[in-house]
Amino acid sequence: MSGSVTDQYVLEARGVTKRFGGVTALDSVDLELREGEVLALVGDNGAGKSTLVKTITGALGRDEGEILFDGQPVHIQTPLDARNIGIETVYQDLALVNELSITKNIFLGREIVKDNLFGRLFGALDFKKMEANVRDLFARLDIRISDIYRDAQGFSGGQRQAVALSKTIMFGKRVAVLDEPTAALGVRESKMAMDLVRSLKDHGLSVIMITHNMQHVLNYCDRVMVMRLGKRAAVRNVSDVDGDMLVGLITGAIAARSG
Ligand SMILES: Nc1ncnc2c1ncn2[C@@H]1O[C@H](COP(=O)(O)OP(=O)(O)O)[C@@H](O)[C@H]1O
Ligand SMILES: [Mg+2]
Repeated sequence: MSGSVTDQYVLEARGVTKRFGGVTALDSVDLELREGEVLALVGDNGAGKSTLVKTITGALGRDEGEILFDGQPVHIQTPLDARNIGIETVYQDLALVNELSITKNIFLGREIVKDNLFGRLFGALDFKKMEANVRDLFARLDIRISDIYRDAQGFSGGQRQAVALSKTIMFGKRVAVLDEPTAALGVRESKMAMDLVRSLKDHGLSVIMITHNMQHVLNYCDRVMVMRLGKRAAVRNVSDVDGDMLVGLITGAIAARSG
């Protein structure tokens, strides 16, 4: 799509296997995420998409396999491990706290303390600075929300999703993992969220996005990885596929070796 995608892998999963009792949810799955790309992860219900991203983001343990970041093996056992490495997961429902303002939501757990005696002694928070940072961030990402002091509950699903996504840029993350970011959104709001995904990419972020929306794959993603029955069924450049071919790969009507 854009020229900023490189051949460098920022994130790799190798041979990831995950079993739930007798069910093999993931059977030795590989995934490569290139620096600066949006990678779509598609597949039928139960194909293993969510399980795969959960093992990458530390939300689930794995039985076999390894994760590499910038080519180096990393130990991701908990969500905090993943965040510290620079991988941020945006969960659809848990994204914002209703009772907190937009600004407080963005800085939740990472508040800026005043750079004076009150800050040092009492941990007084610097709301002016935090609000200025949020306004600056929203301007850069073209997010049109001005009342950033208002409680999050007053905002639409699309606006809330935009705020959640913007945090990844605010805190210098390298990889954003999105599990069906538009599943709960209407058409107009979905477009808003997807435009922001593109904007994250323009700011250098690499994105893995689970989606069922083939138009979003075709319009916003660089590559697409198809999962089927716990395995990687195919990886394609989006420029090489159309909607029918994707559906064929997802259902198995089109057989393909991964590559
Ligand atoms: N916590 C769990 N306990 C037992 N089985 C699970 C659990 N999570 C997922 N599975 C099973 O693993 C397989 C893959 O599920 P999932 O990763 O959610 O698929 P997808 O996200 O592609 O719809 C399915 O067979 C599902 O039933
Ligand atoms: Mg899922």
